[in-house]
Amino acid sequence: MVDFTKLEQDITNSLSKVTDLESLNECRIKYLGKKGEISLLMKELAKLSDDDRKRQAEILNILKNKTLSLIEEKTEELNDRNLNEKLSSETLDVTLPVSSSLGSIHPITQVIEEVVTIFGDLDFYVAEGPEVETDYNNFTALNTSEHHPARQMHDTFYVETQTDNMQNVLRTHTSPVQIRSMLEHKPPIRLIAPGKTFRCDNDQTHSPMFHQVEGLVIDKDSNMSHLKGCLEIFLKTFFETDKLKMRFRPSHFPFTEPSAEVDIGYTKKGNQLIIGEGNDWLEILGCGMVHPKVLQNVNIDPNSFQGYAFGMGIERLAMLKYGISDLRTFFECDLRWIKHYGFSPLNFPSLIRDLS
Ligand code: PHE
Repeated sequence: MVDFTKLEQDITNSLSKVTDLESLNECRIKYLGKKGEISLLMKELAKLSDDDRKRQAEILNILKNKTLSLIEEKTEELNDRNLNEKLSSETLDVTLPVSSSLGSIHPITQVIEEVVTIFGDLDFYVAEGPEVETDYNNFTALNTSEHHPARQMHDTFYVETQTDNMQNVLRTHTSPVQIRSMLEHKPPIRLIAPGKTFRCDNDQTHSPMFHQVEGLVIDKDSNMSHLKGCLEIFLKTFFETDKLKMRFRPSHFPFTEPSAEVDIGYTKKGNQLIIGEGNDWLEILGCGMVHPKVLQNVNIDPNSFQGYAFGMGIERLAMLKYGISDLRTFFECDLRWIKHYGFSPLNFPSLIRDLS
């Protein structure tokens, strides 16, 4: 005959000694698990005579329920204890002063945000492409012939990998995003593509990694005057002046025809550059009408569609607008520099100017 009184004492005893959830679980397995003492006794019931089975089953059920509720009580007690321990060890001193060393937004990021805000208002959407590009997208599809000087080692970082049997490069400009976007979407297209670009060049005015923003508009009738108007609105809004002087100089890019470079007028007062005044000129961007061959390369019929493209350097825009004189300082990670030239995270660009 099983000694149920002893078993009950055993269970109460072991449970009262439990001090953590892990040993509580061990206890549960010991008595109620598949091979636990109570479970085994339940299995044994089948072997008993009818009368004994009935009597013992009753006792066992009461014992099982009692054990279950003891375990439940213990779980609650242990959880409460754990929570209290956590709460008392994680107290916060809310009277401490706020840390004054907040981070700031890098001028490159700020200028990209400004550019996106302005073009966003002109109905452009933002497109992106990879920094490791195929030689095909970076050059060939953009009508850049096999022997164009820009392809040479001294300009381009070649990467030791291939994509679909095509040599990879670090993109030397954001123009390959034009190709990707035109392959993905049918016209009308109206996009800007800001991002990192790479050229094998490093001196006071060149950095091997720099940023550009590309613009592309393709539809049935966009023409050079739309391009000029669009860039004029952009530059006046960006430099926050209505007096901006612009000059379109004929130029050459393999992927645009005709091509132009845009200069803006400025003057120097002491160390300061004043945009919109004076008779000196600064080159600010490259642009033109998208070359029919580029359209053909992306299966767009140049007899039905046309459009314009432009590309400009973000660092150049930032230097001119915020009076930063050395390109290299952008990437030196000097905390004093970023504290001086950085922007408050709350100072996000807006097209609404203070009119007072
Ligand atoms: N991709 C050119 C560059 O890097 C700029 C450009 C873009 C020119 C689009 C014309 C049209 O210099």
